[in-house]
Amino acid sequence: MDNKKEIVICLGSSCFARGNKYSVKVINNYLKENNIEEEVYFHGNHCFGKCDKGPFVKIEDVMNEKVSSENITGILDKTFKKKN
Ligand code: FES
Repeated sequence: MDNKKEIVICLGSSCFARGNKYSVKVINNYLKENNIEEEVYFHGNHCFGKCDKGPFVKIEDVMNEKVSSENITGILDKTFKKKN
């Protein structure tokens, strides 16, 4: 087992159409810019079954609701910028 942090983005059609389509790119850029691609296991998932509260991005065990390409950076900072 490695100790990578996990990011799971919902790629179900509802979340995808309402913004996760763009958030995927924002997250990928974020991982690159902060040089943490190797430390993070970032992958997609099918619908989490709670579309009304989406779009969802799960980071570690926290399910972030109503994520957008505007607020995702702040959400990522909370997890990945703690030590700075
Ligand atoms: S599509 Fe994301 S929770 Fe359903």
